[in-house]
Amino acid sequence: MLTIAVSKGRIYEEALPLLAEAGIVPTDDPKTCRKLILNTTRPDVQLVIIRATDVPTFVEYGAADLGIAGKDVLIEHGAESLYEPLDLGIARCRLMTATRKNAPPITGRVRVATKFVKIAQRYFASLGIQAEIIKLYGSMELAPLVGLADCIVDLVDTGNTLKANDMEPRDLIMNISSRLVVNKAAMKMKNAPIAELLAQFERTLAQR
Ligand code: ATP
Ligand code: PRP
Repeated sequence: MLTIAVSKGRIYEEALPLLAEAGIVPTDDPKTCRKLILNTTRPDVQLVIIRATDVPTFVEYGAADLGIAGKDVLIEHGAESLYEPLDLGIARCRLMTATRKNAPPITGRVRVATKFVKIAQRYFASLGIQAEIIKLYGSMELAPLVGLADCIVDLVDTGNTLKANDMEPRDLIMNISSRLVVNKAAMKMKNAPIAELLAQFERTLAQR
């Protein structure tokens, strides 16, 4: 049995066509069903539906053999203990700094609200900017509006969320997409089915 960890929402939706090309079609829909383990049309493959930030943990401990996670989540988690063989090119976005519209440039000392604490720390340190990082779990865009922070580090896709909150993107920290990650022991113990799955994903991605 191969267990693949996927988060509900955009990664699940964008991963479905890739999985389908490999003959993996879940038999339930996580939007309407409360099941956390989904069987698929392949009797040897099941999906576990978890929070995006938990995917590296499940794969690291071998609770899932494979997982699909954003590069943002993988860097923040510290994914040295995982194999990351494929960029699936899904859930693309940018990790950026952002401020209120027309705010002064970020220099000197800055207060930063983000859920990407480690990435933000490293980024501002690399610029020689002294940053006080405030950890939030969501709605980062609110922080500068209510005086909690000068700046945020968050994911930006269309820019609509920033615009709707009178904020503007500043600097690009990195481009983000979702990656396939594999548990190191599973890569050895279940090499044949995992290698076959990787090859199928690679074929599908090459055709895109
Ligand atoms: P959690 O539930 O663990 O807090 P989350 O709410 O951030 O995570 P999603 O919003 O589904 O979960 O995001 C999952 C991944 O999708 C992110 O880690 C990122 O790689 C990517 N992503 C996030 N926001 C966007 C976006 N607006 N457009 C495209 N991709 C995005
Ligand atoms: C993500 C991110 C931004 C938004 C950016 O939030 O945290 O708020 O998308 O996308 P945009 O540039 O297209 O507006 P998400 O939709 O995942 O909401 P959540 O963080 O509250 O789960």
